[in-house]
Amino acid sequence: MKTVLPPGNPFAPETLSDPWAFYAAAHRIAPAFALPGTPITYVIGYDAVVDAVGRVEEFSNAFGTDLAGARSQDPEVTAILETGWPAVDTMLTADPPVHTRYRKLVNLAFSMKKVEALEARIREIVVQLIAAMEAKAARGETVDFVADFAIPLPVAVIASEIGMQGSTDVLTVKRWSDAFADRLGQMIPRERELECAREVVEFQRHSKVLIDERRANPTGDLLSDLVHASVDGEKPLDDAEIMSVLQQLMVAGNETTTSTLAAGLLNLIQNPEALARVQNDPAMIPNMVEEMLRLETPTSGMWRVVKRDTEIAGIPVKAGTMLMLRYAAANRDPSRFDNPDAFLPDRKNARTHLAFGRGIHMCVGNMLSRKELAVAFQELLARLDSFALAPGAQLVWKPNMLLRGLSGLPITFTARTGAPQTGAEQAA
Ligand code: HEM
Repeated sequence: MKTVLPPGNPFAPETLSDPWAFYAAAHRIAPAFALPGTPITYVIGYDAVVDAVGRVEEFSNAFGTDLAGARSQDPEVTAILETGWPAVDTMLTADPPVHTRYRKLVNLAFSMKKVEALEARIREIVVQLIAAMEAKAARGETVDFVADFAIPLPVAVIASEIGMQGSTDVLTVKRWSDAFADRLGQMIPRERELECAREVVEFQRHSKVLIDERRANPTGDLLSDLVHASVDGEKPLDDAEIMSVLQQLMVAGNETTTSTLAAGLLNLIQNPEALARVQNDPAMIPNMVEEMLRLETPTSGMWRVVKRDTEIAGIPVKAGTMLMLRYAAANRDPSRFDNPDAFLPDRKNARTHLAFGRGIHMCVGNMLSRKELAVAFQELLARLDSFALAPGAQLVWKPNMLLRGLSGLPITFTARTGAPQTGAEQAA
């Protein structure tokens, strides 16, 4: 079969930062293609991605070892990691039945009921962050929406849920989270590899103290649930397993929500008519959040390993092939979403996006991040107005194979006048 490829390299830094023209060109050619000279088949069509995530017998999530690559051979990195606890494949990088066991336990802690119970705390953090941004602007300092709002919100929420609030500060949690994210998704220099390994061990030692405390005295937070949870009479998780789950929650929950908040506000700034409509009708916010997730898709893609010779979207794939399921491209597939590059807060099928994946690995934190995003935009739009990019603002998207996001978003704004309802009143 003749292979027709879209122009450009999908993993070149400039394409990772600004992939939309590449995806649009690729959609005109085929829903999937083998990348010559690599073991990778790149899947972009909406239906093809949905098909792939459903075929768990053929397409495995056990890609952790493949990604570890040369790093796992580095004796100095290994020596540092050996001073901590062993890495265990839990949710993201595990297949059933191992995956099923962890997922059941973690689902308990992320139920809708638990997320609803967190809403007041999320709103409290959001209101504090908005007040701090207003104070900073009043002092004549530039507000960077990423550093001043979009990073601290999810970090504070997850830190409080995994029991780290109070015992350590938000910046430390973010530092640990970045170390795990760098190890997973980026080509990083060896010095950074060593630094990341040290961060991993520091995180594990800190977690061990908290785990022991919760074993002795459960406090009702997520960490207490994980330490004591037992499904179907199975033995509770051991230290290394709990650390692996905590690490995934910390990493998966931070950068992604940060990126959606930042890209979401940028969409509103760039679409003043849409912003005005949502300001006048805050009931649109939940659907607008879905549209932001569809357009930004901060987890741009995820790997699968082909377990036996088969096909995807008519392309033959051999055992050992790596599938790159490109969620960000699928979410702009014109056969699924009309006018796919447009930001339409009232788009009817926005919620059918694949930003959280689908199937057994669908994001365990999807309800939590949807709640954070909705509360954040309720309060931001109720309290602030006239959002604009700060003069001279440069927008840079970090080139990362799996996680794409803005590195900064300098903004200006005014306080909203005319006694607006607070977000909580709108939500009621
Ligand atoms: C906007 C925010 C988020 C986005 C876009 C996102 C995206 C995703 C995606 C695409 C997957 C599926 C990966 C695959 O197909 O293999 C996933 C899985 C996962 N997410 Fe999220 N996520 C977000 C927020 C969160 C939060 C807040 C948490 C937890 C606090 C979280 C925890 C996880 C975990 C543990 C998994 C692995 C689940 C499994 O393999 O069973 N995520 N996420």
